[in-house]
Amino acid sequence: MALKIRPAREDDIDRIFEVETLSFKEPYPKGLLYIYLKLTPELFLVIEKNGKVIGYTIGLLKPSKLGHIVSLAIDPKERRKGYGTLLLKKLLEKFKELGVCKVRLEVRVSNRPAINLYSKHGFKIAYIIKRFYLNGEDAYVMVKDLNEG
Ligand SMILES: CC(C)(COP(=O)(O)OP(=O)(O)OC[C@H]1O[C@@H](n2cnc3c(N)ncnc32)[C@H](O)[C@@H]1OP(=O)(O)O)[C@@H](O)C(=O)NCCC(=O)NCCS
Repeated sequence: MALKIRPAREDDIDRIFEVETLSFKEPYPKGLLYIYLKLTPELFLVIEKNGKVIGYTIGLLKPSKLGHIVSLAIDPKERRKGYGTLLLKKLLEKFKELGVCKVRLEVRVSNRPAINLYSKHGFKIAYIIKRFYLNGEDAYVMVKDLNEG
């Protein structure tokens, strides 16, 4: 089995959008995925298994060296095999290389798999944003200090 994590390319967007729609109740439109790719191509990563994209993550660099995880998703058929962990670790490495001190993200309060994954990697729930999502669900803001290892 060949696994590879690499920066996303424009010709990956259709497949990324497929994983996106399989993964989220309110998927990002394809056009927004293109915009993220243009904004920070070095922080938009895909994971490939035997040449097929099975997941992706999008990071953003904000002012004051703050990293933001915009999205992370694995094809439902490939979940619970450690691939989300691999992508998250790689993105955190990239943030560190860019001098990022703190990383934040928003996650649905009902999203136990993601909350568990991020908690396992040192993210802490900082606060709640009420009705953050279109369907009215609240978000946890989770934060990790990269200097704490
Ligand atoms: C969250 C997500 C990316 C995890 O990807 P994954 O490849 O399945 O994760 P891993 O196999 O690396 O799992 C790592 C840890 O995450 C947690 N986890 C993953 N899936 C879980 C589940 N279904 N239930 C509870 N915990 C889960 C566990 O702590 C797991 O460690 P363990 O297997 O040793 O118990 C994946 O479930 C997904 O794509 N979900 C839909 C999109 C999404 O919600 N993304 C997050 C947006 S903020």
